[in-house]
Amino acid sequence: MNQRFARKLLREFARYFLNNGFGRDARRQFTPKLIAKTLEFEYIRWPKRLQPHVRGRDVLDLGCGMGLHGVGFVVSGVRSYTGCDPILDLDSDVVKNHANARRQQCGWTPRQMMARLPQLRYFPGSVDDLPSGQTFGVAVLHNATEHLIDIARVFAAVRDRLKAGGLLIFNHHNFYAWNGHHMAPKSVSAIDTTDAQQRRVMDWAHLRPDAELDSHLSTRVNRITLDDLRSLTERHFEIAEWHEQLSNDTEGRLRLTQEILIAYAPRTRRELETQSVYCVARKRADEAAVPARRGAD
Ligand SMILES: C[S@@+](CC[C@H](N)C(=O)[O-])C[C@H]1O[C@@H](n2cnc3c(N)ncnc32)[C@H](O)[C@@H]1O
Repeated sequence: MNQRFARKLLREFARYFLNNGFGRDARRQFTPKLIAKTLEFEYIRWPKRLQPHVRGRDVLDLGCGMGLHGVGFVVSGVRSYTGCDPILDLDSDVVKNHANARRQQCGWTPRQMMARLPQLRYFPGSVDDLPSGQTFGVAVLHNATEHLIDIARVFAAVRDRLKAGGLLIFNHHNFYAWNGHHMAPKSVSAIDTTDAQQRRVMDWAHLRPDAELDSHLSTRVNRITLDDLRSLTERHFEIAEWHEQLSNDTEGRLRLTQEILIAYAPRTRRELETQSVYCVARKRADEAAVPARRGAD
C-alpha cells in the first residue's frame, strides 16, 4: 500500500467513526479491509460528496450495480442503505472497479456485506420490487438515470417511496455527450481508428438516425435530453441544485467542430458539450401544480 493511499484510508476510517460514533456497535462493525476495498475501487467519492444530505437518513440507491457504494454510504453515516438493481447477484463479488473501468472481484459479495454491516440491504430488482410500504429520506441514482428505459414511471415510483420533504439526488451521464453512447471509445486516448465499431459511434456518430438500428444503443440507454430530464424532475420535485458539467479534453469536448454542430442540429452546443448533470431536488408537497411538459416522457 503506498503512502498516499494509506493517508486517504486513514481519513476514511476517521470519517467512519465521526459519522457513526464510537459506541460498541460502531466499533464491532468497523471493517477496515472492506473500507479499503471500497476506496481502492473508487466507491467512496460519490457517497462522500452526498454526506451532508444523507448522514443519519434512510437512503435508497436505485441502480446500485453490485452495491459497493453502500459501504461508502455507511462511512458517510447513513441510518440505513437500500440498494436495488436488476443485475444484483447477492452471491457474486464481481464489481466494476471505477479506478480502471474493469469488472473485478472485490472479495465481498452483497450478502457478506449485509452480514457485516446491518445498515445495508440489497434487493435484486427495481423500485417496484422493494417491500411495500418501505419509504426513504433520500433516493440516489449514480449514473443510472440514463439507463432507466421507463424513466417517467420510475421517477413517479421513486417520488412515492420518499417521505415528505425527501430528496432525489442523481448524477446523470448525458447521452448527447461525445461518449454518451457508453461504448468504446469512452476517452480520447482509447480511440482506435481501425476499429469499425468505434467509427460507428465516434465523434457524435451515435446521434445519426441509423444508429437507432444498433441494438446496444436502443436497449441500454434512454436518450433523454437535458431539458426533458429537468422537466420530468420538476414534475415531481422542486430542484434545489442543477449543475451541468462540461466534458473535459479526455472526454472529447475539443473534438466538437462546426461541421458536427451543423450535422446534428437541432441538438445544441450545450447538449453536445455537457458530460453530466448533478441534481438535488426535493419532493413536492403538491405535484398536481406542475403539468407534464410535452416530450418529457
Ligand atoms: C452504469 S450502472 C451504475 C451502477 C452504480 N450506480 C455505479 O455507479 O457503479 C447503471 C445501473 O442501472 C441499472 N438499472 C437499469 N434500469 C434499472 C431500473 N429500472 N431499476 C433499477 N436499476 C436499473 C442497471 O442494471 C445498471 O446496473
